[in-house]
Amino acid sequence: MANATNVVPQAGQVARSQREQLLGQRGRVIWFTGLSGSGKSTLAYALEARLHAAGRHCVVLDGDNLRHGLCADLGFSPADRHENLRRAAQVARLFAESGTICLAAFISPMRADREMVRQIVGPQDLYEVYLDCPLEACEARDVKQLYQRARAGAIADFTGVSAPYEPPLAPQLVLATQSQSIEECLQLLVELSAG
Ligand code: PPS
Repeated sequence: MANATNVVPQAGQVARSQREQLLGQRGRVIWFTGLSGSGKSTLAYALEARLHAAGRHCVVLDGDNLRHGLCADLGFSPADRHENLRRAAQVARLFAESGTICLAAFISPMRADREMVRQIVGPQDLYEVYLDCPLEACEARDVKQLYQRARAGAIADFTGVSAPYEPPLAPQLVLATQSQSIEECLQLLVELSAG
């Protein structure tokens, strides 16, 4: 980091492999990307519950939640989204290094920012899951009535309406959440989490 001068990284005595051995699993980050209303939070929390019940140690990082704390100073400009995702990726990496399965749910609309996430987390630990749901379907759901407000001009830079979303070119998994059931999606996600 530009301001991190005179700072020396410290090494601990417990290796990542020892933590993973203790937990009996391999740490990783499953990164959900997709439009607002595409099902990111629903699937991340459902997967967490499923994995937890199976004795796996996992945690969810959700955009909406991080924006109430760690990222409360950030909005939705391209620069703020970039910083939001940089912080989220750093936290996700810490979880992966602790042996935890980290389920990260962020719109993460830009390919360049998702590539940054991949570099921060480490390509070997990152599993990108694209929730491929047409804008019209997300907008029809409009659980939080954000699309309605964005269309009325009350929310600026709203993804899919007045801000871009770039679909991933080579995600590990694509889930068509308009046509696939939650249970179908979960089956595929559980496989991804175990591999
Ligand atoms: S990003 O683009 O990855 O930094 O966004 P993220 O941290 O995932 O936050 C998305 C949630 O913020 C709410 N919200 C908005 N989303 C998109 N655009 C604008 N302008 C906006 N304003 C508020 C919204 O509830 C998003 O949550 P999800 O779960 O995606 O609906």
